[in-house]
Amino acid sequence: MNKEKVIIFDTTLRDGEQAPGASLTSQQKLEIAFQLEKLGVDVIEAGFPVASPDDFKAVSLVAQNIRKSTVCGLARCLEPDIEAVAKSLKKAKQARIHIFLATSKIHLQYKFKKAEDEILALAKKATKFARRFCDDVEFSPEDATRSEREFLFRVIETAIKEGAKTINIPDTVGYSYPQEIYALITDIFNNVPNINKAVIAIHCHDDLGLAVANSLSAVLAGVRQIHCTINGIGERAGNASLEEIVMAIKTRKDAFKDISTGINTKEIYRTSKLVSNLTGFVVPPNKAIVGRNAFSHESGIHQDAVLKKRITYEIMDPKDVGIRESSIVLGKHSGRHALANKLKDLGFKLPSERIDDIFKRFKELADKKKEIFDDDLIALAEQELREKKKVYELISIRALTGTDIVPEATVKIKFKKRIYEAKSHGDGPVDACYKAIDKVTKVKAKLLSYKLDAITVGKDAQGSVRVEVEVKGKTAIGRGASTDILEASAEAYLDAINKIVV
Ligand code: KIV
Ligand code: ZN
Repeated sequence: MNKEKVIIFDTTLRDGEQAPGASLTSQQKLEIAFQLEKLGVDVIEAGFPVASPDDFKAVSLVAQNIRKSTVCGLARCLEPDIEAVAKSLKKAKQARIHIFLATSKIHLQYKFKKAEDEILALAKKATKFARRFCDDVEFSPEDATRSEREFLFRVIETAIKEGAKTINIPDTVGYSYPQEIYALITDIFNNVPNINKAVIAIHCHDDLGLAVANSLSAVLAGVRQIHCTINGIGERAGNASLEEIVMAIKTRKDAFKDISTGINTKEIYRTSKLVSNLTGFVVPPNKAIVGRNAFSHESGIHQDAVLKKRITYEIMDPKDVGIRESSIVLGKHSGRHALANKLKDLGFKLPSERIDDIFKRFKELADKKKEIFDDDLIALAEQELREKKKVYELISIRALTGTDIVPEATVKIKFKKRIYEAKSHGDGPVDACYKAIDKVTKVKAKLLSYKLDAITVGKDAQGSVRVEVEVKGKTAIGRGASTDILEASAEAYLDAINKIVV
């Protein structure tokens, strides 16, 4: 079956950049435009040239360099605005002038203080004027979704009559809901006599979190161009997100049977990262398609099922959006299967009973730590492997320390199936602990070096201790890891002693 193409009109560089704090230099805009072209967007709205010399420069630069996508500039229905767009697009291979004029009663009354007939005359004049510079003119009746229907129909009909090739229907304030959008688009198709002479587009804002749903509803009602932005950035709560729209159409072929986009979805993730880096707008971890957690599984039940068959809990293949693979994030809800799999990926070949032990420690660690990184797991596995050869095993440690007391530590150590306890004072809690260990082991050990590092990031990171110890001319390096640095210190010291006595 021949699919009908929906034109993807990307306005990241115009409406997206209107997001408070998202401003971009012209070079940054060009970098994003190159990536948008690679992504396969049909139209790049590069800016609002009359707004500032910088915006003019950015649109000109994008127009000079982009060859595959159409480059578009925005203008109010005013001659100087339209002239600025036309001038900035002079070197474009394919250019489009996008003009807009509000049509809702609220805007007419409070923003313009103009009557409907004056607005209609302005729309007519501006469309005609824009067509003098460019064949490809798009007209947007701003705040269309809150406009009186009959008046909206008349404005659209006039713009088409004057040569607008695309009519865009903006839900400027993100007020609509999907059924309402469907009904509005249907009404436009049924009531504007020359409607088949133009492509109908939709432009949704996300004030109620409905921008994507509204855009998709409009597609079902017959629109064939969608305005959207990468990561959904835009004025106020943002615009409809390109990646969500494109992946919804691709994933739900059953609902969008005859529809396709020209987007190379494998470039989605890279584009999202670039826009996030250059605008400084961090993508929330739970953001659909491109968020850090979009293809991550934490719950044990989900992890187990995904490892057996991906489609149990994944409706898209992460590779389709340019993410190498879904991730199994280990946390307190994870199961043994996922842990074993991860350890294998990290290069540990361990018998089942070792994995059981590591799993026990892993659960203890997960209760103390929000996120378990690969380095945490490596530390756990190495600790487990070291313990295989243990002569002395640390059972517990208690320390008393403060600015006005002499630090004191008590250790319990298992040796040949018996538990021994010793207490000692020291220059600090670590020194006291090491002296207490010496009392149990009766080994005269000399500490040559001591190094403490954080294995991973965050306040709850595990501490990793490395010590070098000498006993009767023999030296050994010992390591220990724990969220408690005193415990890590004791483990490291005992590890070195174990190596020497073994
Ligand atoms: O939200 C809006 O109405 C706009 C127009 C300029 C299309 O961004
Ligand atoms: Zn907008």
